[in-house]
Amino acid sequence: MLECFWQFDAIGESMRHDDLPVELRDYFNSSPVALSLAEASSDHPLVLTNSRFRDLTGYATSEIVGRNCRFLQGESRNDEAREKIHAFLAEDRIANVRTPIVNFRKDGRPFVNLLYMSKLRAQSGEIRYIFASQFDVSRTQPDLLREYDADLSRTLDRMSPVLAESGIVVQGSLMTVANSAATIAQAKLTLIELDRGSFL
Ligand SMILES: Cc1cc2nc3c(=O)[nH]c(=O)nc-3n(C[C@H](O)[C@H](O)[C@H](O)COP(=O)(O)O)c2cc1C
Repeated sequence: MLECFWQFDAIGESMRHDDLPVELRDYFNSSPVALSLAEASSDHPLVLTNSRFRDLTGYATSEIVGRNCRFLQGESRNDEAREKIHAFLAEDRIANVRTPIVNFRKDGRPFVNLLYMSKLRAQSGEIRYIFASQFDVSRTQPDLLREYDADLSRTLDRMSPVLAESGIVVQGSLMTVANSAATIAQAKLTLIELDRGSFL
């Protein structure tokens, strides 16, 4: 089921994201991978996510409405990953970012989220939204990671014409995981270190 958020502005007026193309909402709903979309402005509050995101994180729409997605990190520092994300958000020329980041499900179970983020721009060049996809790389295997990459790649390809009709351009293309086995092994190691309390 599609998760649609309501956003509240500083003076408390509610504003529905009706300017989101309806096709995009439908598209999110039909995608086989976890997706999320945030405002490009202020602290990047989430405006849209799909049921795969909820399956992955355990969070229902009402619990994350208008929040920045960093709440998934709990107490974990994630310095390296956050630095990469900061650079992506701050620098116009960086089209996308892909990084593992330690996250926690609602039930407290940690996972290493292979987070992909890219920018959605208006034709004027202004960044309108930040698009993201999440994947648990710590409990997978190379075949499934490659399948996820293919699904995400297809999602991005098919989303482009849908958004183009609304004057929004998807920036950049997916950098697929070059060495799935090594990425998964590293993520599993991260979970072990987290268990030992040496990662926070
Ligand atoms: C659309 C979108 C989705 C995001 N998804 C996640 C996520 O699933 N997990 C996560 O840890 N951070 C996610 N982030 C990144 C955080 O929201 C935040 O940008 C990051 O932690 C760096 O900022 P900070 O150092 O101020 O926390 C997402 C950001 C955006 C804009």
